[in-house]
Amino acid sequence: MNIVDIINKKRVKEELTKEELEMAFNGYLKGFVKDYQMSALLMAICINGMSEREIFDLVDIFIKSGDVLDLSSIPGVKVDKHSTGGIGDKITLIIGPIVAACGVIVPKMSGRGLGYTGGTIDKLESIHGFNVSLTEEEFINSLKTVGLAITGQTANLCPMDKAIYALRDVTGTTSSIPLIASSIMSKKIAGGADKILIDIKCGNGALMETREDAEALREIMEKIGEYYHKETICEISDMNTPLGSNIGNSLEVIEAMDVLQGKKGDLTDLAIKIATEMIKVSKDITIEEAKKEVIDAINSKKAFNKFIEFVKNQGGDINSLEISRNIEKIKATKEGEVKSINALNIGKLSCSLGAGRLNKEDKIDYSVGVVLNKLVGDKVNIGDTLFTLYKKPNERNLLNIDYTNYYEIK
Ligand code: URA
Repeated sequence: MNIVDIINKKRVKEELTKEELEMAFNGYLKGFVKDYQMSALLMAICINGMSEREIFDLVDIFIKSGDVLDLSSIPGVKVDKHSTGGIGDKITLIIGPIVAACGVIVPKMSGRGLGYTGGTIDKLESIHGFNVSLTEEEFINSLKTVGLAITGQTANLCPMDKAIYALRDVTGTTSSIPLIASSIMSKKIAGGADKILIDIKCGNGALMETREDAEALREIMEKIGEYYHKETICEISDMNTPLGSNIGNSLEVIEAMDVLQGKKGDLTDLAIKIATEMIKVSKDITIEEAKKEVIDAINSKKAFNKFIEFVKNQGGDINSLEISRNIEKIKATKEGEVKSINALNIGKLSCSLGAGRLNKEDKIDYSVGVVLNKLVGDKVNIGDTLFTLYKKPNERNLLNIDYTNYYEIK
């Protein structure tokens, strides 16, 4: 077998053996298999899928491409959370402090965003001084003292995923369920947590556009978790509408703090739901008991104080957040009720203002983004502000915004 035989085998929908998968993927990391050959194999996988056995083998190959973090020196249950990504998704910044305030350890390795909004690491970098590159020792010490640490992925954790993900991004092969499941689960397992909560976003602003695909992803990720003896719970949540009201890095940190200080809405509801699941699996208690702990942590401000402690521990100055003062208000020209807000288009708009990156080299402006002043279900009068753009300092009102691309009002 050589790489061309392997590509051909997948092209005609045959199952690859573990040795063949190793030859292709390990060969790619070592440089023997070229970009164009791996691209062809990834596309064949995208089109023809993978069996469960192939997926388990691929996860194993990804994990073994690098180090596995050993968190056994930290007492207590460690629970990790991952979102497949969406517009306005700042849930990690909310549930991390809540769960840690309830006494469960949250070790979190996050990524930068490539897509329409920044990732968790980008959001945290909007806090001046915040260190997103903890060493393994700093990460473990922070978990022991604060109970929550968020850092960028260390260079040697699933290096295979890093290489393959970069190639998938530029070859139209991101939306393959076997590849997404292998990518996410290998990183979560290598990250060393005992339990894993995955928030699968579903809708026009997400990787999984249909409920059916989201369910299929849920099924295979839970099976991978079972295979590796890591209890894995998947929630499927809507991403047709942006989550919360702020999109953009500093703006999202501010909204996360608002929720920790009692702000209500869809974002708060989802954060409570996810944090409750994390507490339930970690403490082996009922959903009602877990929810009570979560609500108490918010109401008592313990979760907010944990957020402040976490930011300070990683060197951040929470008073340093910058929001652009160059704003533009987009107003309604008809009255009615907000029926929907298009997550994908709002994400693209926020990205065009400088809050996200489409190329790895793009620089993010942390101070820009979009604030939704009217949410789904709100009544609107002519002249009401629907949403506000926070633009780069010298950007003029050149965007010529037609709100009907973003808001459906009836
Ligand atoms: N997030 C990941 O880490 N990998 C994917 O393939 C998709 C989302």
